[in-house]
Amino acid sequence: MKTTVRHSRGEYVVETTTLAGVLAALGAEDFVVTDTNVQGALGLGPECFAVEPGERSKCLATYGSVMEWLADRATRGSRVVAFGGGVVGDLAGFAAATYMRGVACLQVPTSLLAMVDSSVGGKVAVDLAAGKNLAGAFWPPERVLVPMDALATLPDREFANGAAEVWKSGAILDRGLLERLEARPISKQDEGLEWVISRCIELKAAVVEEDEFETTGRRAVLNFGHTVGHAIEQAQGYCGLLHGEAVAVGMVAEARLGEAIGETVAGTAERLRAGLASQGLPTALPKGLAWETLVGAMRRDKKAARNGLAFSLVSEIGTCRLVTGVEESDVRRVLEAM
Ligand SMILES: NC(=O)c1ccc[n+]([C@@H]2O[C@H](COP(=O)([O-])OP(=O)(O)OC[C@H]3O[C@@H](n4cnc5c(N)ncnc54)[C@H](O)[C@@H]3O)[C@@H](O)[C@H]2O)c1
Ligand SMILES: [Zn+2]
Repeated sequence: MKTTVRHSRGEYVVETTTLAGVLAALGAEDFVVTDTNVQGALGLGPECFAVEPGERSKCLATYGSVMEWLADRATRGSRVVAFGGGVVGDLAGFAAATYMRGVACLQVPTSLLAMVDSSVGGKVAVDLAAGKNLAGAFWPPERVLVPMDALATLPDREFANGAAEVWKSGAILDRGLLERLEARPISKQDEGLEWVISRCIELKAAVVEEDEFETTGRRAVLNFGHTVGHAIEQAQGYCGLLHGEAVAVGMVAEARLGEAIGETVAGTAERLRAGLASQGLPTALPKGLAWETLVGAMRRDKKAARNGLAFSLVSEIGTCRLVTGVEESDVRRVLEAM
């Protein structure tokens, strides 16, 4: 399945394929960046640059070594291939954006999260000590090839992690998709998985086309569950729940908040809680997190403003909007009840 994404400098195609299809599309001017898990699991050769797996590789030091590796072999006409999960996508994408002031980037997402979320939209970055994604760029890929059979080796916890973003897409943008997930949570064996992934790509592409550079607020709707989710990840020092898991808890919390302030149709939070639990995702706040710590992190969220906290809230399943000026006392009541 194919989706075309238009952006300010042109357009690119996101296409589902197989690992063999990806390898056949690579040529002598392609330089593959991956991580050692993906290299081993998918049998990539020694000619690629493989970083250590995990978020810690999305740093300036690793970025520097990718750039030096490129400098030894790549020219202005070369293409950087980001072959892996979201960490590799963001890291290699940022290297592509900056090597010789920008060379082409082929995104090959191999985790479910990267397929439905990070490989589409052109945001690339590395983390700084002061925070995540602080050094980055908008650098649309030249093409995105999604090898469906790569999911066979993805660990189950990572699959569920990506599934959280799939549920999010249904909750905020597509009631039909959410109902499909409620009827049958996705699994690697699911015959409809390629359709579900392609639908998520289409949904994200449409939002990104409307607000490529995050200036109108439209792109912020993709942040449903993320204000609370990011706060949980930060409070746990990024060593607790995985991103998608934290977002699952965040979606339940933010749906409850929406119900409490009259923004969300009653019953939505329970509906999402039951669905996310059926997908094997956590839906309760991890123990031992003080609400003050969480609200403190939410105050630093990029959507927050002087008049209060901001959340992308579901109105009813399939529609959502950015709500600003939310009182901390309302957030506190919801978190304490969880
Ligand atoms: N640019 C964006 O718009 C955007 C959006 C969302 C998330 N992100 C970023 O994405 C990152 C998270 O991405 P992620 O969840 O893919 O993490 P990840 O890249 O760390 O991958 C998760 C784990 O799965 C392994 N893996 C990936 N594909 C595999 C496969 N096919 N077989 C076996 N193992 C495999 C990886 O080695 C890693 O251990 C974060 O850094 C986040 O900030 C970016
Ligand atoms: Zn996310």
